[in-house]
Amino acid sequence: MCGIIGYTGSKQVKPIIIDALTTLEYRGYDSAGMAVCNNQKNRTDVYKCAGRVRDLEKKCEFKDIDSTCGIGHTRWATHGGVCDTNAHPHSVGKVTLVHNGIIENYKDLIDEFDLSSALTSETDTEVAAAVLDHFYEKGHDAKKAVKSAVKKLKGTFALVIMFSDIPDVIYSIRNVSPIVATLSEEGAMLASDNTALCRFTDRYFVVPEYTIVELKKDKVTMWDLNDNEITPQYLTMDWEKNSAEKNGYPFYMEKEIMEQPKAIRDTISGRTRAGIPNFEADHIPDSLFTGCERICVVACGTAMHAGLVFQALVKSRLNMHIDVELASEFMYSDPVIDEKTLVIAVSQSGETIDTLEALKYARRKGAKSLSIINVKGSSIARESDYVLYTNAGPEIAVASTKAYTTQLALFYLIVYKMAHIRGVLSDDEIRECIRNLKRVPEVVSSVLDEKNAVHVIARGVLDAKDLFMIGRGLDYSILMEGSLKLKEVSYIHSEAYASGELKHGPIALITDNTPVVALVTQERIMSKELSNIREVRSRGADVALFIKADLIQSSTREFDTFVLPNLPDELMVFPASVALQLLAYYVSSDKGFDVDKPRNLAKVVTVE
Ligand code: AGP
Repeated sequence: MCGIIGYTGSKQVKPIIIDALTTLEYRGYDSAGMAVCNNQKNRTDVYKCAGRVRDLEKKCEFKDIDSTCGIGHTRWATHGGVCDTNAHPHSVGKVTLVHNGIIENYKDLIDEFDLSSALTSETDTEVAAAVLDHFYEKGHDAKKAVKSAVKKLKGTFALVIMFSDIPDVIYSIRNVSPIVATLSEEGAMLASDNTALCRFTDRYFVVPEYTIVELKKDKVTMWDLNDNEITPQYLTMDWEKNSAEKNGYPFYMEKEIMEQPKAIRDTISGRTRAGIPNFEADHIPDSLFTGCERICVVACGTAMHAGLVFQALVKSRLNMHIDVELASEFMYSDPVIDEKTLVIAVSQSGETIDTLEALKYARRKGAKSLSIINVKGSSIARESDYVLYTNAGPEIAVASTKAYTTQLALFYLIVYKMAHIRGVLSDDEIRECIRNLKRVPEVVSSVLDEKNAVHVIARGVLDAKDLFMIGRGLDYSILMEGSLKLKEVSYIHSEAYASGELKHGPIALITDNTPVVALVTQERIMSKELSNIREVRSRGADVALFIKADLIQSSTREFDTFVLPNLPDELMVFPASVALQLLAYYVSSDKGFDVDKPRNLAKVVTVE
C-alpha cells in the first residue's frame, strides 16, 4: 500500500525520490507524486498524477527542478477514486504532506474546522493537511502545530510534512503506519519501509509512534508529545546492498523463488546446536514453549497457510491443541485465549494491520506472544514478547514465496524444539528430524533445476478459467497456498479442495477438460487420494499430477506428471510448494502479466 519517501541533504532530490518510489512500487499503488522545496520562490512545488511512477517521471521531465529537499508518495486509493487530484502530496496553505493510513474521523473534522468549501480532493489526507495548516497559521510553530493536529486525528497515519516557509526541513509523525529514518553523510532520509533506504545505508531506526521527527540536512531530532527529546535506536539491516534488485531476472517473483535454497539455509543456520534446535541467539527461553497449554496462530494469506502446515505438525508431533485463525476474523470470533496460550503472529512484512491488531488483542487477554517476521524492527516484531526472524532478505514481489518457505522452516524448528523440551521425541529422533530439515535446501534446488518441466505443465493451463487443486492431509494445506499463488498472479479462478470432500458437492463442476492439479506426497493417504484422482479423471478432468518420487506407481503414469524429489513425508511441503510457485509464475509470465504487481493487490496491507 502507500509508499513514502522523504529526503533533505546535499544531493538533487528528484532522482532520489523517483528511484525510491520505483523501489516502493512493489507495495502496490495507483498514483504517484512528489513535492520539492523551491528555495528561489519560497514555496513547495507539487507534481502528481494517477498512474505509474514512470508517468510522474514524464510529467516532471522538462521541469526545471533544482532542489535538495522533497517528499514522494505512491498512493493505493482508499478514500476517493484514482485521479490526479486525489494523488498525494496534498497542499493546504503553507502545509504540504503525504500520508499512509486512514484518518477515520475525517468527516467530523471537515465539520469541526468548517473545511467543506476549502477542499479540492475527496481524500481524508487533504483534511489532515487542512487541520495542520489551521494550527500552523496560529503561531507558525511547526512542532506545536503537528502536536495539536495529531491530537485531533483518529485512525492510523504516517504523515510526512513540509512547510513552505521552513526550507529544507521535513517533519513526520505516525500512529501504527510505519516510518523508518536514517542520517548519513549525504543527508537525512525517511521512508515507509527499509527497501527504499537500503541502497543508501544499512543503518536505520524505526520512528516510535506519536513522536515528532524533524529532518534537517545534517541532523535528525525527535521529540515525544511532551517535548522530551528521544534518541533514535539505530538498527542494522542485514540485507545485502543489491538484494532489493532483480539481478538479471525478468521478475522479482522468479528471483525470489530461485533464492529459496539460500533463504531456507539462512533461516535454519545458527538455530541448532549439536543437532538440536536452539533459540538462545534469539533470546527465546524454553519456558515459552513449556509454559503454554495451547497455541494460536494469527496471520493472513500466505502466512496463514504456513500456520496450517504448522497446525498439522503440532497435532501429529505434539498432540497439542492449536488454532490457526485468519487475523482479520480473529477479534470478532470470540477466540479462546488466556495466559496459558502462546499466540504466534506470522507476517513477512511485520506490518499487516489485521495481524498486528489480532496480536494486540491476544496480548490484552494475557497470552504470551512470539512472532515470525521477515522485516526487522517492524510493528508486529516490536509488539511481540519474542521474535524469530526468517532472514529471507527483502521480498519484493507481491506474491509471497521465500517468506512462506522460511516461515515453514521456523515452524519445523519450533515443533522439533517443543518435541524435545516436552520429552515427546528423544535426542536421537530430534537429530534425525534436523538432519532431514537441513537437506531441504538441496532438495529445493533440485526442484528448481527441473523448472522447465513445470513450465511445460503451466502451458497446459494457460487458457483455463477455473482450476481445481486436490489433495489430502498435509497436501491439502500445501495446495491452499498453491491455489492462492496461482489465482493472485494468473487471475485464474483456482480452488484448493480436500479430495475426499469433492463428492460432497464440487465434483459437479468437473467436466471434460477441467484442469485439476493433484498432489500426492503423503504415503498413508495415498491410495485414497489416487481413487479421488481417478474419480475426477473419469469425469473428463485433465489431471496434472505432482507426486513424490517414491510414491509413483504404474497407474500414475497416465497423467502429466512432475516428480517431486524424496524427503520424509512430513517435509514434502517444501519441494511441493516450490513446484506450485513455479507453476503460478510461469502461467502469469506466459500470459504476459506484470507478475510482480498483480492487479488490486498490495504487498503491505496496512488497512483493515
Ligand atoms: C501472498 O502471496 C499474498 N500476497 C498475501 O496473502 C500475504 O501473504 C498477506 O497479505 C500477509 O502478508 P504479511 O506476511 O506481510 O503479513
